[in-house]
Amino acid sequence: MREQWVRVLATGSSVPETVLTNFDLEKMVETNDEWITTRTGIKERRIATSQETTATFALQAAKEALCRAGVSPEEVDLIIVATVTPDMLFPSTACLLQRDLKAKNACAFDLEAGCTGFVYALAVAEKYLRGGGGRVALVVGAETLSKIVDWQDRSTCVLFGDGAGAVVLGLGEEPGILATYLGSDGNGASLLELPAGGSRFPASFETITQRLHYIKMNGNEVFKFAVRVMEEASNEVIHRAGVNIDEVDTFIPHQANIRIIQSAAKRLGITEEKIFVNVHKYGNTSSASVPIALDEAVQEGRVRKGDLVLLVGFGAGLTWGSALIRW
Ligand code: COA
Repeated sequence: MREQWVRVLATGSSVPETVLTNFDLEKMVETNDEWITTRTGIKERRIATSQETTATFALQAAKEALCRAGVSPEEVDLIIVATVTPDMLFPSTACLLQRDLKAKNACAFDLEAGCTGFVYALAVAEKYLRGGGGRVALVVGAETLSKIVDWQDRSTCVLFGDGAGAVVLGLGEEPGILATYLGSDGNGASLLELPAGGSRFPASFETITQRLHYIKMNGNEVFKFAVRVMEEASNEVIHRAGVNIDEVDTFIPHQANIRIIQSAAKRLGITEEKIFVNVHKYGNTSSASVPIALDEAVQEGRVRKGDLVLLVGFGAGLTWGSALIRW
Protein backbone atom coordinates (compact mmCIF):
# COMPACT_ATOMS: atom_id res chain seq x y z
CA MET A 1 0.00 0.00 0.00
CA ARG A 2 1.58 3.29 -1.09
CA GLU A 3 0.85 6.45 0.86
CA GLN A 4 1.89 9.35 -1.27
CA TRP A 5 -0.25 12.31 -0.28
CA VAL A 6 -0.19 14.65 2.64
CA ARG A 7 -3.74 15.48 3.68
CA VAL A 8 -5.26 18.05 6.04
CA LEU A 9 -6.93 15.87 8.68
CA ALA A 10 -8.56 18.75 10.56
CA THR A 11 -8.39 22.47 11.30
CA GLY A 12 -8.83 24.62 14.41
CA SER A 13 -8.62 28.26 15.43
CA SER A 14 -8.70 30.58 18.40
CA VAL A 15 -9.03 34.34 18.77
CA PRO A 16 -9.06 36.62 21.83
CA GLU A 17 -12.43 37.55 23.31
CA THR A 18 -11.66 41.28 23.42
CA VAL A 19 -13.01 43.11 20.35
CA LEU A 20 -11.55 46.47 19.26
CA THR A 21 -13.83 48.21 16.77
CA ASN A 22 -13.06 51.05 14.38
CA PHE A 23 -15.15 53.26 16.66
CA ASP A 24 -12.91 52.33 19.59
CA LEU A 25 -9.89 53.34 17.46
CA GLU A 26 -11.49 56.74 16.75
CA LYS A 27 -10.94 57.47 20.44
CA MET A 28 -7.27 56.43 20.31
CA VAL A 29 -5.85 58.01 17.11
CA GLU A 30 -7.04 60.49 14.47
CA THR A 31 -9.00 58.09 12.29
CA ASN A 32 -12.58 57.14 11.54
CA ASP A 33 -14.66 54.09 10.70
CA GLU A 34 -15.34 55.32 7.18
CA TRP A 35 -11.62 55.67 6.31
CA ILE A 36 -10.69 52.27 7.73
CA THR A 37 -13.67 50.50 6.12
CA THR A 38 -13.23 51.94 2.64
CA ARG A 39 -9.41 51.60 2.56
CA THR A 40 -9.14 48.14 4.18
CA GLY A 41 -12.51 46.44 4.68
CA ILE A 42 -11.71 46.01 8.38
CA LYS A 43 -14.49 46.74 10.91
CA GLU A 44 -13.00 45.20 14.05
CA ARG A 45 -10.11 43.08 15.29
CA ARG A 46 -9.41 40.87 18.34
CA ILE A 47 -6.85 41.97 20.93
CA ALA A 48 -5.03 39.80 23.49
CA THR A 49 -5.04 40.76 27.16
CA SER A 50 -1.74 41.36 28.95
CA GLN A 51 -1.93 37.79 30.31
CA GLU A 52 -2.47 36.22 26.87
CA THR A 53 0.47 35.46 24.58
CA THR A 54 0.98 33.94 21.15
CA ALA A 55 1.36 30.52 22.80
CA THR A 56 -2.07 30.94 24.45
CA PHE A 57 -3.87 31.03 21.11
CA ALA A 58 -1.52 28.52 19.46
CA LEU A 59 -2.40 26.00 22.18
CA GLN A 60 -6.16 26.52 21.88
CA ALA A 61 -6.12 26.27 18.07
CA ALA A 62 -3.85 23.21 18.15
CA LYS A 63 -6.01 21.40 20.73
CA GLU A 64 -9.12 22.04 18.64
CA ALA A 65 -7.48 20.75 15.44
CA LEU A 66 -6.07 17.64 17.16
CA CYS A 67 -9.41 16.87 18.79
CA ARG A 68 -11.26 17.18 15.47
CA ALA A 69 -8.64 15.01 13.75
CA GLY A 70 -8.91 12.35 16.48
CA VAL A 71 -5.13 12.51 16.85
CA SER A 72 -3.45 12.41 20.27
CA PRO A 73 -0.50 14.74 21.03
CA GLU A 74 1.83 11.72 21.35
CA GLU A 75 1.16 10.85 17.72
CA VAL A 76 2.52 14.19 16.47
CA ASP A 77 5.99 13.93 14.89
CA LEU A 78 6.51 17.57 13.91
CA ILE A 79 5.28 20.91 15.26
CA ILE A 80 5.86 24.15 13.36
CA VAL A 81 4.61 27.46 14.69
CA ALA A 82 4.69 30.22 12.10
CA THR A 83 4.88 33.58 13.85
CA VAL A 84 6.47 37.03 13.86
CA THR A 85 5.40 37.54 17.48
CA PRO A 86 6.91 34.60 19.39
CA ASP A 87 6.48 34.65 23.17
CA MET A 88 10.25 35.20 23.39
CA LEU A 89 13.15 35.31 20.93
CA PHE A 90 14.03 31.90 22.31
CA PRO A 91 13.03 29.26 23.18
CA SER A 92 10.66 28.85 20.27
CA THR A 93 6.92 29.18 20.78
CA ALA A 94 6.70 25.73 19.12
CA CYS A 95 8.62 24.26 22.08
CA LEU A 96 6.24 25.95 24.52
CA LEU A 97 3.36 24.42 22.56
CA GLN A 98 5.07 21.00 22.51
CA ARG A 99 5.40 21.22 26.31
CA ASP A 100 1.82 22.33 26.91
CA LEU A 101 0.38 19.69 24.57
CA LYS A 102 2.67 16.99 26.06
CA ALA A 103 3.56 16.07 22.49
CA LYS A 104 6.56 14.13 23.72
CA ASN A 105 7.46 12.52 20.37
CA ALA A 106 7.49 15.71 18.32
CA CYS A 107 10.35 17.89 17.16
CA ALA A 108 9.38 21.55 17.23
CA PHE A 109 10.51 24.84 15.76
CA ASP A 110 9.25 28.30 14.83
CA LEU A 111 9.21 29.57 11.27
CA GLU A 112 9.33 33.27 10.45
CA ALA A 113 8.28 34.30 6.97
CA GLY A 114 6.16 37.36 7.73
CA CYS A 115 2.49 36.97 6.92
CA THR A 116 3.38 34.11 4.54
CA GLY A 117 4.54 32.10 7.56
CA PHE A 118 1.67 29.62 7.62
CA VAL A 119 1.89 28.84 3.90
CA TYR A 120 5.66 28.39 4.27
CA ALA A 121 5.16 26.09 7.28
CA LEU A 122 2.53 24.06 5.44
CA ALA A 123 4.90 23.54 2.50
CA VAL A 124 7.81 22.58 4.79
CA ALA A 125 5.67 20.13 6.79
CA GLU A 126 4.32 18.56 3.62
CA LYS A 127 7.85 17.95 2.32
CA TYR A 128 8.93 16.66 5.77
CA LEU A 129 6.17 14.05 5.89
CA ARG A 130 6.60 13.08 2.26
CA GLY A 131 10.33 12.70 2.83
CA GLY A 132 9.78 10.15 5.58
CA GLY A 133 10.22 12.39 8.62
CA GLY A 134 7.07 11.11 10.29
CA ARG A 135 3.35 10.49 9.87
CA VAL A 136 1.66 13.46 11.57
CA ALA A 137 2.49 17.18 11.61
CA LEU A 138 0.87 20.04 13.49
CA VAL A 139 1.18 23.36 11.66
CA VAL A 140 0.11 26.50 13.50
CA GLY A 141 0.02 30.17 12.54
CA ALA A 142 -0.22 32.29 15.69
CA GLU A 143 0.22 35.98 16.44
CA THR A 144 -0.30 38.70 19.00
CA LEU A 145 0.46 41.65 16.72
CA SER A 146 -1.24 44.02 19.16
CA LYS A 147 1.93 43.73 21.25
CA ILE A 148 4.19 45.11 18.48
CA VAL A 149 1.80 47.63 16.93
CA ASP A 150 2.48 51.32 17.55
CA TRP A 151 -0.83 52.46 19.02
CA GLN A 152 0.16 56.07 18.22
CA ASP A 153 0.65 55.36 14.48
CA ARG A 154 -2.72 55.53 12.71
CA SER A 155 -1.26 54.26 9.43
CA THR A 156 -0.54 50.82 10.93
CA CYS A 157 -2.46 50.36 14.19
CA VAL A 158 -5.82 50.09 12.44
CA LEU A 159 -4.66 47.13 10.32
CA PHE A 160 -3.61 44.35 12.68
CA GLY A 161 -5.14 41.86 15.12
CA ASP A 162 -4.44 38.72 17.17
CA GLY A 163 -5.32 35.02 16.94
CA ALA A 164 -4.21 31.58 15.79
CA GLY A 165 -5.16 28.85 13.34
CA ALA A 166 -3.92 25.27 13.13
CA VAL A 167 -4.01 22.25 10.85
CA VAL A 168 -3.16 18.62 11.49
CA LEU A 169 -1.47 16.95 8.53
CA GLY A 170 -1.24 13.21 7.95
CA LEU A 171 -0.25 10.79 5.21
CA GLY A 172 -2.97 9.22 3.09
CA GLU A 173 -3.71 7.49 -0.18
CA GLU A 174 -6.17 10.05 -1.47
CA PRO A 175 -4.93 13.33 -2.95
CA GLY A 176 -4.42 16.16 -0.45
CA ILE A 177 -1.85 18.94 -0.86
CA LEU A 178 -1.39 18.87 -4.64
CA ALA A 179 1.30 21.54 -4.96
CA THR A 180 3.00 24.37 -3.10
CA TYR A 181 5.06 27.35 -4.21
CA LEU A 182 7.20 29.73 -2.14
CA GLY A 183 9.10 32.89 -3.06
CA SER A 184 11.14 35.65 -1.46
CA ASP A 185 12.85 38.96 -2.24
CA GLY A 186 14.96 40.45 0.54
CA ASN A 187 15.46 43.62 -1.51
CA GLY A 188 12.08 44.66 -0.12
CA ALA A 189 13.07 43.95 3.50
CA SER A 190 12.72 47.57 4.62
CA LEU A 191 9.13 47.90 3.32
CA LEU A 192 7.75 46.08 6.36
CA GLU A 193 9.90 45.62 9.43
CA LEU A 194 10.29 45.66 13.18
CA PRO A 195 13.70 47.34 13.43
CA ALA A 196 14.80 46.82 17.05
CA GLY A 197 15.13 43.97 19.49
CA GLY A 198 17.46 41.87 17.36
CA SER A 199 21.24 41.97 16.89
CA ARG A 200 21.16 45.12 14.76
CA PHE A 201 19.45 47.33 17.33
CA PRO A 202 19.39 45.55 20.68
CA ALA A 203 16.96 47.08 23.16
CA SER A 204 18.29 50.36 24.49
CA PHE A 205 17.00 53.67 25.79
CA GLU A 206 17.36 55.06 22.21
CA THR A 207 15.44 52.22 20.53
CA ILE A 208 12.60 52.72 22.96
CA THR A 209 12.45 56.51 22.67
CA GLN A 210 12.61 56.23 18.86
CA ARG A 211 9.76 53.68 18.95
CA LEU A 212 11.82 51.14 17.03
CA HIS A 213 10.20 48.15 18.74
CA TYR A 214 7.05 48.66 16.68
CA ILE A 215 5.96 47.71 13.14
CA LYS A 216 7.12 50.12 10.41
CA MET A 217 5.52 49.84 6.99
CA ASN A 218 5.47 51.50 3.58
CA GLY A 219 1.79 50.79 2.90
CA ASN A 220 1.62 51.89 -0.72
CA GLU A 221 4.59 49.80 -1.84
CA VAL A 222 3.38 46.75 0.09
CA PHE A 223 -0.03 47.12 -1.53
CA LYS A 224 1.39 47.02 -5.08
CA PHE A 225 3.69 44.13 -4.24
CA ALA A 226 0.82 42.18 -2.67
CA VAL A 227 -1.49 42.36 -5.67
CA ARG A 228 1.33 41.37 -8.03
CA VAL A 229 2.60 38.36 -6.06
CA MET A 230 -0.85 37.04 -5.18
CA GLU A 231 -1.55 36.71 -8.88
CA GLU A 232 1.86 35.21 -9.59
CA ALA A 233 1.78 32.75 -6.67
CA SER A 234 -1.74 31.59 -7.53
CA ASN A 235 -0.91 31.03 -11.19
CA GLU A 236 2.31 29.20 -10.36
CA VAL A 237 0.74 26.69 -7.96
CA ILE A 238 -2.16 26.07 -10.36
CA HIS A 239 0.39 25.40 -13.09
CA ARG A 240 2.42 23.06 -10.86
CA ALA A 241 -0.68 21.03 -10.01
CA GLY A 242 -1.71 20.87 -13.67
CA VAL A 243 -5.20 22.28 -13.12
CA ASN A 244 -7.10 25.30 -14.39
CA ILE A 245 -7.95 28.33 -12.23
CA ASP A 246 -11.64 27.78 -13.08
CA GLU A 247 -11.50 24.47 -11.20
CA VAL A 248 -10.73 26.21 -7.88
CA ASP A 249 -13.78 26.00 -5.58
CA THR A 250 -12.58 28.23 -2.74
CA PHE A 251 -9.93 30.93 -2.78
CA ILE A 252 -8.55 31.64 0.71
CA PRO A 253 -6.12 34.55 0.50
CA HIS A 254 -4.15 36.27 3.25
CA GLN A 255 -6.61 38.62 4.94
CA ALA A 256 -4.73 41.93 4.93
CA ASN A 257 -7.00 44.25 2.99
CA ILE A 258 -10.22 43.66 1.04
CA ARG A 259 -8.95 45.84 -1.81
CA ILE A 260 -5.83 43.70 -2.22
CA ILE A 261 -7.96 40.54 -2.20
CA GLN A 262 -10.43 41.91 -4.74
CA SER A 263 -7.72 43.28 -7.06
CA ALA A 264 -5.86 39.96 -7.05
CA ALA A 265 -9.05 37.94 -7.57
CA LYS A 266 -10.06 40.17 -10.48
CA ARG A 267 -6.68 39.73 -12.17
CA LEU A 268 -6.99 35.96 -11.69
CA GLY A 269 -10.58 35.84 -12.96
CA ILE A 270 -11.82 34.33 -9.68
CA THR A 271 -15.46 35.18 -9.09
CA GLU A 272 -16.63 36.77 -5.84
CA GLU A 273 -18.60 33.80 -4.52
CA LYS A 274 -15.43 31.68 -4.49
CA ILE A 275 -13.45 34.10 -2.31
CA PHE A 276 -13.45 33.56 1.44
CA VAL A 277 -13.21 36.82 3.39
CA ASN A 278 -13.15 37.45 7.14
CA VAL A 279 -10.82 40.49 7.23
CA HIS A 280 -13.75 42.62 8.49
CA LYS A 281 -13.80 40.61 11.75
CA TYR A 282 -10.11 40.16 12.53
CA GLY A 283 -7.99 42.56 10.46
CA ASN A 284 -4.57 41.29 9.45
CA THR A 285 -3.44 38.55 11.83
CA SER A 286 -0.26 37.81 9.83
CA SER A 287 0.66 34.10 10.03
CA ALA A 288 -2.67 33.32 11.68
CA SER A 289 -4.73 34.86 8.90
CA VAL A 290 -4.82 32.03 6.35
CA PRO A 291 -5.36 29.19 8.88
CA ILE A 292 -8.11 31.10 10.73
CA ALA A 293 -9.84 31.75 7.40
CA LEU A 294 -9.38 28.13 6.35
CA ASP A 295 -10.87 26.89 9.63
CA GLU A 296 -13.86 29.21 9.36
CA ALA A 297 -14.42 28.22 5.73
CA VAL A 298 -14.42 24.54 6.72
CA GLN A 299 -16.72 25.07 9.74
CA GLU A 300 -19.14 27.12 7.64
CA GLY A 301 -19.35 24.36 5.01
CA ARG A 302 -17.64 26.52 2.40
CA VAL A 303 -15.02 23.78 1.93
CA ARG A 304 -16.29 20.26 1.32
CA LYS A 305 -14.66 16.93 0.57
CA GLY A 306 -13.34 16.86 -2.98
CA ASP A 307 -13.17 20.66 -3.29
CA LEU A 308 -10.12 22.38 -4.70
CA VAL A 309 -8.85 25.00 -2.22
CA LEU A 310 -6.29 27.66 -3.11
CA LEU A 311 -4.35 29.29 -0.26
CA VAL A 312 -2.15 32.29 -1.01
CA GLY A 313 -0.11 34.58 1.22
CA PHE A 314 2.35 37.47 1.09
CA GLY A 315 4.23 39.45 3.67
CA ALA A 316 7.37 40.82 5.26
CA GLY A 317 10.67 39.57 3.93
CA LEU A 318 9.41 40.08 1.35
CA THR A 319 7.85 36.64 1.04
CA TRP A 320 4.96 35.04 -0.81
CA GLY A 321 3.57 31.55 -1.23
CA SER A 322 0.65 29.39 -2.25
CA ALA A 323 -0.76 25.93 -1.75
CA LEU A 324 -3.36 24.00 -3.69
CA ILE A 325 -5.29 21.38 -1.72
CA ARG A 326 -7.77 18.71 -2.79
CA TRP A 327 -9.97 18.57 0.31
N1 COA B 1 -7.16 57.13 9.31
C1 COA B 1 -7.30 58.25 8.58
N2 COA B 1 -6.39 58.67 7.69
C2 COA B 1 -5.28 57.91 7.54
C3 COA B 1 -5.08 56.74 8.29
C4 COA B 1 -6.06 56.36 9.20
N3 COA B 1 -5.97 55.25 9.95
N4 COA B 1 -3.90 56.19 7.92
C5 COA B 1 -3.38 57.00 6.98
N5 COA B 1 -4.21 58.04 6.75
C6 COA B 1 -4.05 59.14 5.81
C7 COA B 1 -2.63 59.36 5.38
O1 COA B 1 -1.95 60.15 6.31
C8 COA B 1 -2.81 60.05 4.06
O2 COA B 1 -3.07 61.40 4.30
P1 COA B 1 -2.44 62.53 3.38
O3 COA B 1 -2.96 62.25 2.00
O4 COA B 1 -2.95 63.78 3.99
O5 COA B 1 -0.97 62.34 3.50
C9 COA B 1 -4.08 59.45 3.49
O6 COA B 1 -4.74 58.83 4.61
C10 COA B 1 -3.85 58.41 2.39
O7 COA B 1 -2.88 57.53 2.83
P2 COA B 1 -2.37 56.37 1.93
O8 COA B 1 -1.26 55.64 2.63
O9 COA B 1 -2.10 56.84 0.53
O10 COA B 1 -3.67 55.44 1.87
P3 COA B 1 -3.89 54.13 1.05
O11 COA B 1 -5.12 54.25 0.26
O12 COA B 1 -2.64 53.68 0.37
O13 COA B 1 -4.20 53.08 2.19
C11 COA B 1 -3.20 51.33 3.48
C12 COA B 1 -3.24 52.82 3.19
C13 COA B 1 -2.17 51.10 4.57
C14 COA B 1 -4.56 50.87 3.94
C15 COA B 1 -2.81 50.59 2.18
O14 COA B 1 -1.65 51.16 1.61
C16 COA B 1 -2.54 49.13 2.41
O15 COA B 1 -3.41 48.39 2.77
N6 COA B 1 -1.31 48.66 2.14
C17 COA B 1 -0.96 47.29 2.35
C18 COA B 1 -0.69 47.06 3.81
C19 COA B 1 -0.61 45.61 4.15
O16 COA B 1 -1.38 44.80 3.71
N7 COA B 1 0.36 45.26 5.00
C20 COA B 1 0.54 43.97 5.51
C21 COA B 1 1.17 43.10 4.49
S1 COA B 1 1.28 41.47 5.08
